[in-house]
Amino acid sequence: MVTIPKNIEELKSYKPGKPIQQIISEYGLKETAILWNNENNFGPSPEAMKHLTNAMSNSHLYPDPACLELRGLIARKNKVEIENVAVGNGSESLFNNLFNSFFNQGEELLTCEGTFVAVYIWAKANKIDVKTVPLTSTYNFDLKGLAKSIGEKTKAIYLSNPNNPTGAMISRQELIDFMEIVPPHIIVIVDEAYFEFACDLSEDYPDSTLLRYDNVLTLRTFSKAYGIAAIRIGYAIASERMIEALMKVKLTFEPSNVAQAAGVGAIQDTEYLNRTVHNNTNELHKYYRELHKLGYKYVPSFANFVMLTLESAEQVQELFDALMKKGVFVRPLRAFGLPHCLRITVGLPEENALCFKALAECKEELGF
Ligand SMILES: Cc1ncc(COP(=O)(O)O)c(C=O)c1O
Repeated sequence: MVTIPKNIEELKSYKPGKPIQQIISEYGLKETAILWNNENNFGPSPEAMKHLTNAMSNSHLYPDPACLELRGLIARKNKVEIENVAVGNGSESLFNNLFNSFFNQGEELLTCEGTFVAVYIWAKANKIDVKTVPLTSTYNFDLKGLAKSIGEKTKAIYLSNPNNPTGAMISRQELIDFMEIVPPHIIVIVDEAYFEFACDLSEDYPDSTLLRYDNVLTLRTFSKAYGIAAIRIGYAIASERMIEALMKVKLTFEPSNVAQAAGVGAIQDTEYLNRTVHNNTNELHKYYRELHKLGYKYVPSFANFVMLTLESAEQVQELFDALMKKGVFVRPLRAFGLPHCLRITVGLPEENALCFKALAECKEELGF
């Protein structure tokens, strides 16, 4: 019999849920609000689509393996050199590439419990042990706890800022203080998947690329604020040395020609970006008002979602089921290690209004 390495055997297989169309027809839903994946419900950036459509006619040719046009635009926007930028099939792919390119056997990743699940999965898939400390009582990264846990085997520390799924943010000063403690041979991966939303929500939100530390690797994505999650494109900004290593291990023609073109269009689509970000900031504040009025507990967020904290995993399941029957699809957070929590993506105004109405009805019906 073929043997499968233990680290792969131990990974859970992906179990897709019921297709959403099936749920809609089973419950006879007339209106829906899909608020479970932190996607951008405005649809894709029109500029991204224009560039992507033009690029399709070149699909018989291999794409530019160095991704020069897109990397150049990302570099210009972030005031770094092209040698400081790598792109990949979403930031998820960049995780895989960075685990591949930086870790020697036996070296560990240090992070917190209750953060982006793909990090634990890709680390394990690459035979990397993950050492974790709990989040703070305010659902934020425990930077003091992490600093104390740095050991001989620590190769890199992963921070999600703001954190998915809690929405909590590490402030500029907190990040600077942390970086003063971390030895320069340890890589600090700062995942800024929700960067554009956080910049609009807080002046205290740190752009980690501006701190100019040689051991910081910043990850960003086009999946959220730019609305092209299905196209799969993300990028990393770091020192030339780290970027060169990342570029060596990426699949030669990753990302595809259409993905590169979509990124080129999206990054220039300021009108779309501004609309997205302003909608998020306004609607997030509406969530706070409604949740407060209805008596739901939540964690203040610096992203395009808000996390509710309930009394138990059972309450989360009840609320999740009840909301779904009313056409509102949200994310229970058991898989993220937070079984008493539930995450709601900020959608379009009409979707959020449906969610507020459903949350109010659930409060009455479920009695909590
Ligand atoms: C913190 C964080 N990082 C990365 C990603 C993945 O982004 P991508 O679509 O670029 O792989 C997500 C997606 O939900 C996320 O929440």
